[in-house]
Amino acid sequence: MNAQEVIDLEQSHVLGVYGRAPFVLARGAGSTLYDTEGRAYLDCVAGIAVNALGYNDAGVAQTMGEALASGMLHVSNLYHTAPHARLAALLCETSFADKVHFCNSGAEANEGAFKFARRYGRAYGGDDKVEILAFTNAFHGRTMGALAATPRPKYQEPFTPLMPGVRFAEFNKVESARAQMDATVCAIIVEPIQGEGGIHVATPDFLAGLRALADEYDALLIYDEVQCGVGRTGTLWAHQGYCTGEEGRLFEPDILTAAKPLAAGLPIGAILMRQRVADTIHKGDHGSTFAGGPLVTSVAHHVVSRVAQPAFLAEVEAKGKLLHDLLEEINSPHIVALRGKGLLVGVELDIEAADVVARGYAEGLILVNAGPTVLRLAPPLVITEAEIHEVVARLARTLHAL
Ligand SMILES: Cc1ncc(COP(=O)(O)O)c(C=O)c1O
Repeated sequence: MNAQEVIDLEQSHVLGVYGRAPFVLARGAGSTLYDTEGRAYLDCVAGIAVNALGYNDAGVAQTMGEALASGMLHVSNLYHTAPHARLAALLCETSFADKVHFCNSGAEANEGAFKFARRYGRAYGGDDKVEILAFTNAFHGRTMGALAATPRPKYQEPFTPLMPGVRFAEFNKVESARAQMDATVCAIIVEPIQGEGGIHVATPDFLAGLRALADEYDALLIYDEVQCGVGRTGTLWAHQGYCTGEEGRLFEPDILTAAKPLAAGLPIGAILMRQRVADTIHKGDHGSTFAGGPLVTSVAHHVVSRVAQPAFLAEVEAKGKLLHDLLEEINSPHIVALRGKGLLVGVELDIEAADVVARGYAEGLILVNAGPTVLRLAPPLVITEAEIHEVVARLARTLHAL
């Protein structure tokens, strides 16, 4: 089949909820994707912050090979397996968490976090302590609970009624959050760096303020690190970038949700939590058929072990700074602002980001937007400095052409 035949076949049979690029991808290596016509693209999307180790990583392939050799792609959660236990232990060792629960995606991780928060709220505050506070511009996923905490009319309105019991405050405004707090709130959910909402970085005062509010009202602080977690910002968990010195604990959550890059592209989600949350959850409260299987947890263990290495994280930080500095040097009247941290960068434009994405393909650049006028750069964490120079040169040419 040639590219057009693949596109036609897909359009005939696949539900049309995605706007897809006008080519067919065939293979990847490092930070480069190749289409069926042999054209190469430098990938600044990484499966939307998924392919942290790029394409065709030798360690991932070896880990998968070893896991497959056991013959157990899957066993039910009714049975113990070593990879599952080892990954949970590693996630606890590298975070604030005491316990982990696995699921299959980011939205599912947030659904689980909401269930656990309501269980906690009822246990300590009674039957009314079930409300969730979320923020303007947030994105927590497309399932009914996660969508209820994602305040975008275009995503929500066709599907109402959503999960009740969600209220909103303004992102980065502690006083706005305070105005929404009362004894019925069981959890505050926030992205330390808002991804889909346009790459907005939470201020230290905002996160510390939310921690204080959560403590004051005995509510749980949930960080949604589905997009910004697992090394993307130069620390293993994005909030750890705020945790410097004695005051580190001021920024720690009670629950953290992770997904996208955890297993190098295999579907996984994880809900990390403190013991006092875990203490309120009982056998049978929650579960999943697929979650935490031996293959996916083996690969995730490889990813987390590698990304958590201080040298790897220092490189992400340095490469993020290089990307930011080079973007600042682009002399384009279309760039209005630069935001982000590490290798999660938002370029606010005065034109439609979709036009830049479309034009970028001709320059051999795979880009994605985050809202109508923000271009999002989230390349594989293993992108090289030379590739970053090339990305920015191609982006400059793309912008000049518009
Ligand atoms: C911050 C955040 N939370 C949750 C999700 C939902 O994750 P998934 O698409 O795996 O359900 C996303 C996806 O983009 C996200 O960026």
